[in-house]
Amino acid sequence: MGIGIEKIGFYTPNKVLYLEDLAQARHVDPNKFRVGIGQDEMSVSDGSQDCVSMAINATLDYLSDADRAKVGLLILGTESGVDQSKSASLFVKSALKLPNNLRTFEVKEACFGLTAGVAIAHDYIQTHPEKTAIVIGSDLARYGLKTPGEPTQGAGSISLMISNHPRLIQFEPGHASYSEDIDDFWRPDDQLFPLVSGKYSTESYLKFFKKTFQAYKDSCGLNTSDFKAICYHLPFTKMGFKANEIACDHQPAAIQERLRTNFTLSAKYTRRVGNIYTGSLWLSFLSLVKNGTFELDDRIGFFSYGSGAVAEFFSAKVCPDYQNALLTSKHLAKLMNRQRLTVPEYERLFNLPLMSSKEMSLTSDEASGFWYFAGCHQQIRQYRQI
Ligand code: COA
Repeated sequence: MGIGIEKIGFYTPNKVLYLEDLAQARHVDPNKFRVGIGQDEMSVSDGSQDCVSMAINATLDYLSDADRAKVGLLILGTESGVDQSKSASLFVKSALKLPNNLRTFEVKEACFGLTAGVAIAHDYIQTHPEKTAIVIGSDLARYGLKTPGEPTQGAGSISLMISNHPRLIQFEPGHASYSEDIDDFWRPDDQLFPLVSGKYSTESYLKFFKKTFQAYKDSCGLNTSDFKAICYHLPFTKMGFKANEIACDHQPAAIQERLRTNFTLSAKYTRRVGNIYTGSLWLSFLSLVKNGTFELDDRIGFFSYGSGAVAEFFSAKVCPDYQNALLTSKHLAKLMNRQRLTVPEYERLFNLPLMSSKEMSLTSDEASGFWYFAGCHQQIRQYRQI
């Protein structure tokens, strides 16, 4: 057996804003959000969920005592981190009761962070075949009230267990990378929200897709028709839709239809959760395997993009019996159980001092068992379980 994803966990906060409500409040045609941007809803944190608590909650979806004993590496990718120095993964390790003799750290390269962690985990498992690695992407995507980026916000986390006993997908050898030092999206230390050149980020994303997809096919001797589906990093689904149309160019009608149908299935969860930065590519993968139908060894392509900017294309093959490794009812419950906010309620929550390290207490109305950020004590962040 090769190396791949054995388990996948997902978390999104328990509050949601419908973009039709936002469109009405901002005097925008709802079709701009639904069709033009390709988003229907976005999850909202009430201040009690941050990248740490969401990472814990996503991993608790699947973590067993047997998993705890085997894990040797824990990586957290985020671009909404809580400390300039200490890794957010240490709070996660402690809450999950993982052993002290593991390697753990945080990685950052915009939305590429979780994919970077997966690549490191892959190499780690090659040299430590008896171990597993937990790699998490966890983010609050926030652009500010009444900004162009507002309908492309969201919140959530994806947790992957990588091992040499994959149950969902097995990675294929090789990858194509591309990077350029550009300024399409960035967040300087003194800024609460990212600075983004939205149209430029789309142009760069599409350019990087063309380069890495072609380079990957050339290096592996593959054609577009060899892919059953392609998963894209989806900050908003229209962006991936445009890349998928590039993939469909000059393809026979049956291949175009297959890629388009699978793209729609892969975008279902993002349409409801919004942008989750590092986890976005992997949320589209979760949506695809939950909503699509695959056979053993079907090939799925992955396009990962992190502003600034880096991109990577790679692929994996579907494992037998992958459906039995999906925790579908747990994942759907998190989407279904969200409370619908009014726009004034969303605006009030948005203005809470999420990043403050001052003394404050936060409570959570999440269901029993979930973890939350409980404020700071002596400038130390506190995490508690309900
Ligand atoms: N019905 C249907 N479509 C409509 C519409 C309507 N009434 N009104 C506008 N649209 C379409 C536009 O034609 C456009 O489509 P296109 O992209 O195919 O050209 C789309 O909706 C967006 O409209 P636009 O006026 O360009 O939107 P905007 O200036 O408000 O900005 C984003 C949209 C996505 C650029 C902005 O939300 C943003 O910057 N988001 C963050 C981007 C990001 O996360 N970048 C980093 C990711 S890697």
